[in-house]
Amino acid sequence: MRAIILNATSRAEWPAAEYNRPVAVGVHLVSQKVCTEKPVAAVTPRVMHQDGETYGYVHLVERHNVDAGWNVVASNDAIGLDPASVPREMTLQRFCLERPLQGFGLRDADVSHGVEPVSLSEGCTSGYRNTILIDLTPMREAPR
Ligand SMILES: [Fe+2]
Repeated sequence: MRAIILNATSRAEWPAAEYNRPVAVGVHLVSQKVCTEKPVAAVTPRVMHQDGETYGYVHLVERHNVDAGWNVVASNDAIGLDPASVPREMTLQRFCLERPLQGFGLRDADVSHGVEPVSLSEGCTSGYRNTILIDLTPMREAPR
């Protein structure tokens, strides 16, 4: 976990005014589980969005017996759209995280992002996709 966070912080670019500020690091573990009774699992928000932190990073921990789960990075015009229906002209990247620790990072204000649901692979009775989300935001003094 420490290596993932240090990797994220080393890739972030800060304006000079924020370079020496402490950074708030958010760590979120997301598990999407599927089974024959519930063969599709989505994450929220289900639409293209921004998170509100300065930088966001997604790393796959592991996926097993699931299909799909396509990540979509798009222009901000796509905010509110279903990731599966983002028009090609708004799409910057569309990819599936397949290998453990494969991931990506975003400067949140520059783009929108979203992920399509995962579905249970044919012939399987259960599966999952686990990811680690890291976000970085410079800390600011509270107004007095
Ligand atoms: Fe997000």
